[in-house]
Amino acid sequence: MSSQTRPRRLSVTQIQSRKGGEKIVCLTAYTASVARHLDAQVDLLLVGDSLAMTVYGFDSTLPVTLDMMVAHGAAVVRATQHALITVDLPFGSYQESPEQDFRAAARVLAETGCTAVKLEGGEEMAETVAFLVRRGIPVMGHVGLTPQAVNALGGYRSRGHADAERDTIMRDGIAVAEAGAFSLVIEGTAESVARELTGAIAIPTIGIGGSAACDGQILVTDDMLGLFAEFTPKFVKRYRRLGEEIGGAAREYADEVRSGRFPAEEHTYRAPRRARSATAE
Ligand code: KIV
Repeated sequence: MSSQTRPRRLSVTQIQSRKGGEKIVCLTAYTASVARHLDAQVDLLLVGDSLAMTVYGFDSTLPVTLDMMVAHGAAVVRATQHALITVDLPFGSYQESPEQDFRAAARVLAETGCTAVKLEGGEEMAETVAFLVRRGIPVMGHVGLTPQAVNALGGYRSRGHADAERDTIMRDGIAVAEAGAFSLVIEGTAESVARELTGAIAIPTIGIGGSAACDGQILVTDDMLGLFAEFTPKFVKRYRRLGEEIGGAAREYADEVRSGRFPAEEHTYRAPRRARSATAE
């Protein structure tokens, strides 16, 4: 395929140019089969470390490794052509120093073919964000409710209701934006704070429980499809109940196998009839 006919992925500059304009549509993706169905509908796919819970059944995002993110990131990149692919840096792979972060991010970019990485944190990560951006790595920031800090935050409660928390989230978002991030996820944060932060920074904000004031939205795909039903945060809208569909399909299959209705004639290989020899007749 020539470079003229090959479909082009959205770039970070195209995402940035949507600030205050057409809403940016994002979802998470972890596997080739699902990413293929999402690609044409969205602007950005995040290979989120939420895969710890949705794919691997852990009860937090903390156990995810860089190897896991690389494997899932590469699968999603291979299956897509349109959306900008961003891969989460997992807990422990980047917080130590800008150099540690650069090594992790460079590996993710080189081994997956994705365009950008996402990391959680505010003021304390600004120097690291700037370090990566100066070296050619696009970074998506993530403030507010940051799941990798669940132990320090004392749970998954929404944030920005008290003045001190509000000021922290504002300072965090501004620091990450000024450090050069191309976009900023605002998770589980009071509408007034998300609105003020969106107005205060020059890069697009992507809300997940950050209200309609954000420049775009992201949901965990398994949540919006009804595949992950362990708990449903207030900000999730369920567009389908695929978990129930899967259970129903498995029930039908089991009934048919047990009753002998599956496999049927059309699912069965028949060897071609042997030509009968005249002598045998
Ligand atoms: O890991 C993830 O899916 C995320 C989204 C919740 C933004 O970080």
